[in-house]
Amino acid sequence: MTEVIRTSAELREKVAAWKRSGMLVGVVPTMGALHDGHLSLARAARGQSDRVIVTIFVNPMQFNNASDLDKYPRDEAHDLALLEAEGVDVLFAPGVDEVYPEGFATKVTVGGVSEPLEGAMRPGHFDGVATVVSKLFGMTQAGRAFFGEKDWQQLQVVKRLVEDLNIATRIIGCPTIREEDGLAMSSRNVRLSPAERAQAPVLHAEMQKAAEAMRAGTPVAVALEAATRAITAGGFGAVEYLELRTVDGLRPATDLSEPARLLAAAWLGDVRLIDNIAV
Ligand code: PAJ
Repeated sequence: MTEVIRTSAELREKVAAWKRSGMLVGVVPTMGALHDGHLSLARAARGQSDRVIVTIFVNPMQFNNASDLDKYPRDEAHDLALLEAEGVDVLFAPGVDEVYPEGFATKVTVGGVSEPLEGAMRPGHFDGVATVVSKLFGMTQAGRAFFGEKDWQQLQVVKRLVEDLNIATRIIGCPTIREEDGLAMSSRNVRLSPAERAQAPVLHAEMQKAAEAMRAGTPVAVALEAATRAITAGGFGAVEYLELRTVDGLRPATDLSEPARLLAAAWLGDVRLIDNIAV
């Protein structure tokens, strides 16, 4: 049975009791509309912790676009059924007033890795993520937290955050789960029309081609340029960014002399898709 908890006071009691009996608590923060990507994190948490909390909170502070927040898919009853099937102990689903009560006045800003890419395209987004994640770590007191590589930059921001603020939660990164045609699973995919859904795999396919070309010696700029053109030709609108960055510190990379990651954000209709792969 997955217990649904809505207040941090109640959650704190539950976690304190677990910890008194020496249990390791794992948390999987989410915004709901759960899919296999989220569930893979719950499974990893199950395997590496004694008790598992999944949080569902559509965090207004990290949306820099009111219509994206409005359109964000929500189906708690369905999510709960999925979490039951995974043997999750607690679904923590607080309301907005529980997370941001009147008088709330703190913002957590991570510098460096949060600045390029998503940080540049979505001003304030990572402040919202860092703030809510700090709060969720405080509320759950979890020893381990599981995040997807799907949001690679977010994973780097959260790692920086816990390091810099001496938060005692260990961050575990988990691989991106994809549909059979390569499209990275995302809660936003349900907003794609059937025609757009058929075009969507082009993003990952062209990223892979670009990575292969780079490994075969094609100059990075040339490979990126060709991929951008192919993604647009494949039905996408604006490619907001398609960049090669160092794994260490997300610095711009012009060659493969150190481990690198290819990261992209592009629009398909009115849905913004992001993806990233190791090169
Ligand atoms: P959300 O987009 O719901 O994602 C929750 C977690 O699931 C994140 O760690 C994300 O990287 C992971 N995830 C999403 N799609 C995945 C996939 N296809 N494969 C593997 N993991 C995947 O990310 C957020 O919510 C929020 O920013 C949050 C961290 C909860 C803070 O509000």
